[in-house]
Order: sequence, then structure tokens, then C-alpha cells
Amino acid sequence: MYELIYASRAVVDLSENELEVFLGRSRERNAAADITGCLLHVHDRPGDAAYFVQLLEGPQEAVEETYRRITQDLLHVDSTVVYQGEREGRGFEGWRMRLATITTESVLALIATDPEYLNDPRPTAELLQNPSLARALLELQAGRAVTP
Ligand SMILES: Cc1cc2nc3c(=O)[nH]c(=O)nc-3n(C[C@H](O)[C@H](O)[C@H](O)COP(=O)(O)O)c2cc1C
Repeated sequence: MYELIYASRAVVDLSENELEVFLGRSRERNAAADITGCLLHVHDRPGDAAYFVQLLEGPQEAVEETYRRITQDLLHVDSTVVYQGEREGRGFEGWRMRLATITTESVLALIATDPEYLNDPRPTAELLQNPSLARALLELQAGRAVTP
């Protein structure tokens, strides 16, 4: 199984309902391409923008093709691959694209437990490009304990 995680900045701050509607077609496409995964919509830090962190998993060719298509989407910019590579099985079996909206506050709460990031002054965009942080946020959605 191939896995790709990317982070990007949302151009339009869509509501969770709007995102659910938007994801309808994506889920049909993902089902046809045997792709599962999770889309995190990160927002709320005062004065900051909204971000996406998405995990795509499935056959490598399908994952790469879908990611290429997603990067062209005008709803977001500055897409950066955080991780890509082989993995054992799926983390989001049965989810043609799980959607979760989280606040940047919860991102900061998570990293505050890691001394390395305590009082990290970097903006959210950079934090979300940290592979272990991005994965930790995604794994929380999958209902698994975060490995330190
Ligand atoms: C944050 C974000 C996540 C997306 N996730 C998916 C996805 O998982 N699968 C998918 O097929 N399209 C996804 N899309 C939509 C694609 O970018 C694209 O608009 C859609 O596949 C239709 O492509 P087309 O207009 O070339 O047919 C996503 C777009 C954004 C902005």
C-alpha cells in the first residue's frame, strides 16, 4: 500500500457542511481508484488562515495521480508533500475520505506536550509540514493512540 500526506493552505474557508458536499464527488472517485484516507481541515487561530492536511492511501499510481489532480485545485495553494512511501495495510480502511475539522489550538495543545515544540513561534503552516506532527493529528482521527 502506498501513502502520501500533504499539507496546504485553504484559499476559501469552507464550512464543514460545504466540505462534506464538496467531498461527495471526491469520494466516488476515490472508491473507483481504491483510495482511502483522511482530510483534516485546520483553522481557528486568530488572524491565521485555514489549512488542509490530507492522507491518501492506495495503489501508488492512483495515489500519485489523485494527488497531482488535487494540487491543481484552486481551493488551496502551497501544497507540500509531508510524507510519501510504502506502508503496511491501511490506516483508514473503509473511509473513502474521512473529514475532520480541527482547531489550530488543538494542534498547539498536542505539540505543547513535546518539549521540542514548546513555545514554537513558527506559524501553523510550517508546523503542519512536520511529518510526525501531521501523522499524529491524522492518527488521532483514526482513533489510535499517538506513538510518541
Ligand atoms: C483539500 C482537497 C482535497 C481533495 N481531495 C480529493 C480526493 O480525495 N479525491 C479526489 O478525487 N479529489 C479530491 N479533491 C478534488 C480534486 O482537486 C478535483 O477537484 C476533483 O478530483 C475533480 O477533478 P476534475 O475537475 O479534474 O474532474 C480535493 C480537493 C481539495 C481542495
